[in-house]
Amino acid sequence: MDAQSPVIRRYGTAASQEAAALIRAGGIVAVPTETVYGLAADACDSAAVARIYAAKGRPAFNPLIVHVRDLAAAERIAVFDDDARALAARFWPGPLTLVLPLREGAGIARLVTAGLPTIAIRVPAHRAMQDLLTQSGAPLAAPSANASNGISPTRAEHVAASLGAAVPLILDDGATAAGVESTIVAGRTILRPGPVTAEMLEEVLPVAAGTTAQVSAPGQMATHYAPRKPLRLGALVREGDEWLIGFGAVAGDDTLSADGDVVEAAARLFDALHRGDASDRTTIAVAGVPHVGVGVAINDRLRRAAHR
Ligand code: TXA
Ligand code: MG
Repeated sequence: MDAQSPVIRRYGTAASQEAAALIRAGGIVAVPTETVYGLAADACDSAAVARIYAAKGRPAFNPLIVHVRDLAAAERIAVFDDDARALAARFWPGPLTLVLPLREGAGIARLVTAGLPTIAIRVPAHRAMQDLLTQSGAPLAAPSANASNGISPTRAEHVAASLGAAVPLILDDGATAAGVESTIVAGRTILRPGPVTAEMLEEVLPVAAGTTAQVSAPGQMATHYAPRKPLRLGALVREGDEWLIGFGAVAGDDTLSADGDVVEAAARLFDALHRGDASDRTTIAVAGVPHVGVGVAINDRLRRAAHR
């Protein structure tokens, strides 16, 4: 192992135990969730949480999502109302993050919430993250495991490329299933669209799509999720030397989904952007993706990625 490369371990009992030991010792570990790979630390250990911010180069005012094993663990940290309980009952474990009042005396490091009176919390559906939660016995703060403002990682190799030796251990369990970050809901407002779509939420309670100005959620910063190269959206054909990422009938150097399936496109989105960044072309273009279902989340991430 050279100094620039992190250790990548294939998911399994030994790797999980090694990761949990690192967490209990106050360290950080990159671990897959069903959305994207996260960079995890014990949410009650402020020094450990500080290591996440340091590894990502993340502004300290940007609060982190806390991952817990189940609803009971979540209720020890956050104050649930009937709406929140209904959403949790329907969508947990799964890619939904709830922003709720932080419970007093919950023991969460202040750095996790960046001083906010609320906390973003979710119960992930991925076996590797669930094992890490069980074996470390701690709530885990985990932002996406990429350098701040970089593209979210959907594969262990993306984490290694973005964070390098800043992360000592990456649990590798292949490509993530959903491919875009969790839906974030505060009250009845969607702060960040994601795999749990507005239509799905509406089956439980009425929600307002769109963001709320009053919460400082840096995932809403216009330039979040940016690849290094300029990005052109809604492309029908390649212009100049562009790396064209197709969708449906628009073919390219790569495609989000040849069948025009938005769920497949979400799962492939960040990988496709990573490949475009790594290509020999100077610009990336992406075909239009319909604004339906998780297509709303895809277009949200693409709009931010294209913004300079
Ligand atoms: O799918 C995901 O959510 C992934 C995986 C690893 O779980 N995590 C993730 O974390 O995307 P991160 O840190 O990249 O994005 C967390 C978002 C940020 O936009 C942050 O501002 C927002 O959640 N957030 C955290 N706490 C908040 C709070 N109390 N109120 C409003 N927004 C909050
Ligand atoms: Mg992120």
